[in-house]
Amino acid sequence: MEGLLEIKGLKTYFFTEAGVVKAVDGIDFQVGKDESVGLVGESGSGKTVTGLSVFRIVPQPGKIISGSIIFEGEDLLTKSEEEMRRIRGRKISMTFQDPTTSLDPLYTVGDQLAEVIKEHQRELSKKEAMEKATKLIEMVGISEPRIRVNEYPHELSGGMKQRIAIARALASGPSLLFADEPTTNLDVTVQAQVLELIKDLREKQKMSLVMITHDMGIVAEMTQRVQVLYAGMVAEVGETHSLFKRPQHPYTEALLQAVPRIDKRKELRVIPGNIPNLINPPTGCRFHPRCPYAKEICKEKVPQLELTDKGHLSACHLWRDLSLSGA
Ligand SMILES: Nc1ncnc2c1ncn2[C@@H]1O[C@H](COP(=O)(O)OP(=O)(O)O)[C@@H](O)[C@H]1O
Ligand SMILES: [Mg+2]
Repeated sequence: MEGLLEIKGLKTYFFTEAGVVKAVDGIDFQVGKDESVGLVGESGSGKTVTGLSVFRIVPQPGKIISGSIIFEGEDLLTKSEEEMRRIRGRKISMTFQDPTTSLDPLYTVGDQLAEVIKEHQRELSKKEAMEKATKLIEMVGISEPRIRVNEYPHELSGGMKQRIAIARALASGPSLLFADEPTTNLDVTVQAQVLELIKDLREKQKMSLVMITHDMGIVAEMTQRVQVLYAGMVAEVGETHSLFKRPQHPYTEALLQAVPRIDKRKELRVIPGNIPNLINPPTGCRFHPRCPYAKEICKEKVPQLELTDKGHLSACHLWRDLSLSGA
């Protein structure tokens, strides 16, 4: 598959008073043209920071300390802030778990969408941009778009706000969308609708998608390939189908066996033990303190990603000896 985004050796650390938080600690990640890839892991595994790094909007005291982020053949880490502003929104978009972070409470929905549209199509008049905004609102499945276009974010339900945030992310026709837990705060019915919407738009707009989630159910439904992160490192990568059928990393097995939660609002910990402290992560394999299969070598040596099958990689010392259960 032709490459669109290729991240190599990315390290993003937060230099806090308590110490250096190694949030993303040397990850590789690829997204092909027209591909839909899941980035999955429990809360705190480095998913959002990976997205923020691609966007070059890592907040203080965070810093990208090494690696490369090649997008359409060029390294984003060498771009000026001005060049990044053009890439953000126009070519790569991101939606956030909390849609209010991407919407301004002081402006109407229409004004905000029109602003993005005008930024990318300067020749449009205000009226034409508003017309396009209304179309976008309709496209994301909101009824009465002509009324909604004049409303403020606080007048919308959570599901509608997330739809508007998606509309805003798509206003410029990006070739890549990072959707960061877009449905985590929504109830189950609305969640299904928003996922359907993203799927549908992806097909219509021929856009690549990075679906950031902690939910393996969403990965199964939305992605062709999946990358599992644990404590800032890659645990496993593979085609969604084969990774679900034959996981090659104990952490993936644990994620697959995690009990589905009825109340998605709470991120319940479903795998025994804690996500490690990323200032002083465990030695060797970072998962070893929670791993039911861990051996001496797992404490001592950092496992490297190894090819276990075509397109399937695992960073587990023991993958050859284990027979893990799939979903
Ligand atoms: N502003 C920050 N300051 C310090 N640490 C941070 C900051 N933002 C994120 N981190 C740390 O980076 C790690 C990865 O976070 P994040 O990417 O948000 O995880 P995920 O999205 O997978 O839940 C966590 O340990 C988190 O505490
Ligand atoms: Mg996150």
